Amino acid sequence: MDDRNILEVKNLEVHFEARSGFLNNLLSREVPRIRAVDGVNFNLKKGEILSLAGESGCGKTTTGKAILRLVEPTGGKVYFRGQDLSLLTQKELREFRQQAQIIFQDPYESLNPRQTVFATVAEPLEVNRICDNTKEKEERVARALSDAGLKNPRDYFIRYPHELSGGQRQRIAIASALVLKPKFIVADEPVTMLDLSIRSGILKLMMELRDNKQISYLFITHDLSLAWLISDRIAVMYSGNIVEIGGAEQIIGSPAHPYTKALVSVIPNPERSSGTDRKLLEGEIPDPSSPPRGCKFHPRCSYAQPCCREERPLLREVEKDRFVSCHLV
Ligand SMILES: Nc1ncnc2c1ncn2[C@@H]1O[C@H](COP(=O)(O)OP(=O)(O)OP(=O)(O)O)[C@@H](O)[C@H]1O
Ligand SMILES: [Mg+2]
Repeated sequence: MDDRNILEVKNLEVHFEARSGFLNNLLSREVPRIRAVDGVNFNLKKGEILSLAGESGCGKTTTGKAILRLVEPTGGKVYFRGQDLSLLTQKELREFRQQAQIIFQDPYESLNPRQTVFATVAEPLEVNRICDNTKEKEERVARALSDAGLKNPRDYFIRYPHELSGGQRQRIAIASALVLKPKFIVADEPVTMLDLSIRSGILKLMMELRDNKQISYLFITHDLSLAWLISDRIAVMYSGNIVEIGGAEQIIGSPAHPYTKALVSVIPNPERSSGTDRKLLEGEIPDPSSPPRGCKFHPRCSYAQPCCREERPLLREVEKDRFVSCHLV
């Protein structure tokens, strides 16, 4: 493993078993497998923000959860700081869970409405039996709240989620991730539910935490313009696979995969003339239990050739640090 990487993901697979219907049982037919994550490969460097972007249902959240082992991968390997996560003992897995955290989209759902801010942010310390001393615990909670950008942190201790704004709630959720001093965070659409006016504050906070605390992020978003704003590199995901990965400027400035091209073409850009080169994607992402043969994108691709219907393209390096899976690139 390259020691500049904090994370290496190799051929990660998460296949769920679809619930078998009565007819399938009767005919003892094979239950279809939902290929939510179907062979995903990437590395994350220390202190890097990598966005995982793509349409709803393409497997972004499942990828993030499988990396953190919140869902069990059905194949492939994840290495965190060089350690194969599938080989960890229970104790090592607990240590890993302190270093790797997740922030969810909806701070209204992720916070317990009956818990005070103090109880919420102190909980990870208690679960992991990190400090028994009340004074020390209060200091760590106050530090986490202030690291999450909340001024006068002790004023929040006895407040409840319903007394707070959406932006404040998301900062509380971030504080309860920060309290364990993580090195890696999966941020799953962390600003999607927030008003535009408070989004930039949360994004700025994440970038500051990267700079000041060397936290690496997997930033999950369906919004490529947001990915461009925040990340060093972007991975574009389609139907369980990464179809293109590279520097954020490269991906947005000169997308190579036809799917990335279509996504980039609809990013609002005042400089672009009258919108003639916009490509509205038609159709939907394939059913993950029966993806098309060949390139999974070919039924929606305006460049598709006969080979695209037959052979699944591999992710190939087309220029330095830029990988694309398309027969035509
Ligand atoms: N526990 C599960 N059991 C069965 N299928 C699942 C399960 N979790 C996810 N899936 C399916 O796996 C696919 C990928 O889901 P996932 O939630 O990872 O997508 P996503 O890219 O995060 O989508 P969104 O942008 O809507 O959040 C979807 O087809 C989904 O229905
Ligand atoms: Mg999701």
